[in-house]
Amino acid sequence: MKGKFITLEGPDGSGKSTIIKLIGDYMKEKGIDFIVTREPGGTKIGEKIRSIILDNENISMGPETEALLYAAARSQHVHEKIIPALNEGKVVFSDRFILSSLAYQGVGRQLGIERVKSINDFGLRGIYPDLILFFHIDPELTLQRKTLKMGGDRLEQEGNEFHKRVYDGYMELIKMYPENVKIIDATKSIDEVLNQSIEEIEKLLTI
Ligand code: TMP
Repeated sequence: MKGKFITLEGPDGSGKSTIIKLIGDYMKEKGIDFIVTREPGGTKIGEKIRSIILDNENISMGPETEALLYAAARSQHVHEKIIPALNEGKVVFSDRFILSSLAYQGVGRQLGIERVKSINDFGLRGIYPDLILFFHIDPELTLQRKTLKMGGDRLEQEGNEFHKRVYDGYMELIKMYPENVKIIDATKSIDEVLNQSIEEIEKLLTI
């Protein structure tokens, strides 16, 4: 595959979505052929699945169902958007990917990292990021900010214990799968976080 695949990971409210837009602006300036996408979502089917997963009315959703829906949205994303873009030589930036499922469903929902990995592997067609930028920040503070501001979606509404498990899960995953993971200090200013991210991206793309 000719392109490169870069994903952004981290707890809710860690600033990934703001930074990914700014990364896009930078790539445009540099004249690099790229796409920006997100999970859950990124495709028409994936966005529909996203609204089912995050709907606050779906309180009866079981953890296995949730994990399968994330995996289904991801599989469609890989099939319809990520593989074609990589084949065209594009740089693909995704706000979240497989590590989110391993941390949130594997550890947060206590389904187990290996079990969640296996249902995802079925739909991934061997695709793995060339670079994972992990936005490191204490999740308690960011969640408080986010839920106070907007009420929060079904996952954000989960208590601090859940989000603490997700954070611990990420820490465990970084140790388990250190390949291609770079830690970004997301407590810094937007400019500093952007600069740290660009530095890692440029190392990969050698620009
Ligand atoms: P977002 O707020 O980053 O768009 O993500 C939506 C929520 O979905 C967020 O709380 C993280 C969660 N999530 C999972 O639990 N598992 C996954 O595989 C993904 C991609 C997101």
